[in-house]
Amino acid sequence: MLVVPLIERKRDGGTLTPEEWSALVAAYTADRIPDYQMSALLMAVLLRGLERQELAALTDAMLAWGTPRVDKHSTGGVGDKVSLVLAPLVAACGVAVPMMSGRGLGHTGGTLDKLEAIPGFRTGLSLTEAKAQVMKLGCAMIGQTPEIAPADRRLYALRDVTGTVAAIPLIAASIMSKKLAEGLNALVLDVKRGTGAFLPKVEQSLELAQTMIALGEDRGCPTVALLTAMDRPLGRACGNALETEEAILALRGEGPADLMEVTYALGVEMLLAAGVEKTSKKARHRLENALGSGLAAEKFERVIEAQGGNPKVVEDASVLPQAQEVEVYNAPRTGVVQRVDPKIIGRAVVAMGGGRLAVDDAVDPTVGFVITVKPGDKIPGGEPIASVFAKDPAGIKLGFEALQQAIVVGDKLTEKPLPLISHRVTKDGVEQLKR
Ligand code: URA
Repeated sequence: MLVVPLIERKRDGGTLTPEEWSALVAAYTADRIPDYQMSALLMAVLLRGLERQELAALTDAMLAWGTPRVDKHSTGGVGDKVSLVLAPLVAACGVAVPMMSGRGLGHTGGTLDKLEAIPGFRTGLSLTEAKAQVMKLGCAMIGQTPEIAPADRRLYALRDVTGTVAAIPLIAASIMSKKLAEGLNALVLDVKRGTGAFLPKVEQSLELAQTMIALGEDRGCPTVALLTAMDRPLGRACGNALETEEAILALRGEGPADLMEVTYALGVEMLLAAGVEKTSKKARHRLENALGSGLAAEKFERVIEAQGGNPKVVEDASVLPQAQEVEVYNAPRTGVVQRVDPKIIGRAVVAMGGGRLAVDDAVDPTVGFVITVKPGDKIPGGEPIASVFAKDPAGIKLGFEALQQAIVVGDKLTEKPLPLISHRVTKDGVEQLKR
């Protein structure tokens, strides 16, 4: 945009239109106007003042975030690193994602713990810092602040260690208080179902989805939910640093199929909700392009750097903290994988030090599992099917015991795994998906 004529007009006592103020603020926030020109304009304002209409326009432009703001939240799962892939991916498609997440809860992992596995990464940004970062980069990934949803931080931590997580009203209030505080234009929810979800039955997941949608819609935030499978871990990695590494691989185009499918499905909903695409097909295409071109990985790199983390991690995963002990776990027999129990895996990650047993516990980012089989896979006995990452031999033992219980191999599949994405819920009703 041509800034000099605007500076001159203001300098000479003229007025700028609301559109000009809006364009000026948007361009400056996106670093398309240099500081020296903005300084000249500021001096012109100081000397000449602003008409009432100009002041209103400048205030509105400074208030607005410019691009549509959309976020997603999961009700909690094992191996669920979708947020780490999705936030930069959707931001790379031109939608602002002011993501506020939580820590590990019960047997499930938390986005903040995963991000903090990146050396230096700060999730505790102030509201002002987060807002400035979203305006600049289109994405910030933060935790609750003293200014936003402060009660959830304390209640969430209490619920984690007092067996009070699995309640529809408590989950709904926890999630929606954080999300509505972000001032979103729309929200997409990933409601987990199956044995690894806090509420395993599909009726409970649907009720939770509808409860949160009503809270969102009543408060002017269009909300849509997808029900996704949590009867097995999502992706391969379970544990903070391991999941961060898998998320980075996904951003580089090497993510496991189930993780990518859920990420794209939620991303499509976010782009539609933001109004940047009109059809699911176009939205999916845009997401695939942003990922394939490297834009999404680059966005994550910039977010990491802006939040004090080491951006090299995107190129080189060895920047992440590494477990002291790693051991491979082999298939106990030839057969078909009948079950990979997410709750047993999630609880083992916590027991190995990757989650909290008491409110103030520190989390060991290095521990966890990489499990390369899914229910329905045919496997030969004695072949590697998982790895355990632990801080000591006792942790390896614990991990092996968990895998022996969690991965059940038999002659044939006894129970069909849940469809990866089974329902789409909106204020208008529930649609069963055929995927
Ligand atoms: N995620 C949250 O933020 N809160 C819950 O209660 C469950 C998942």
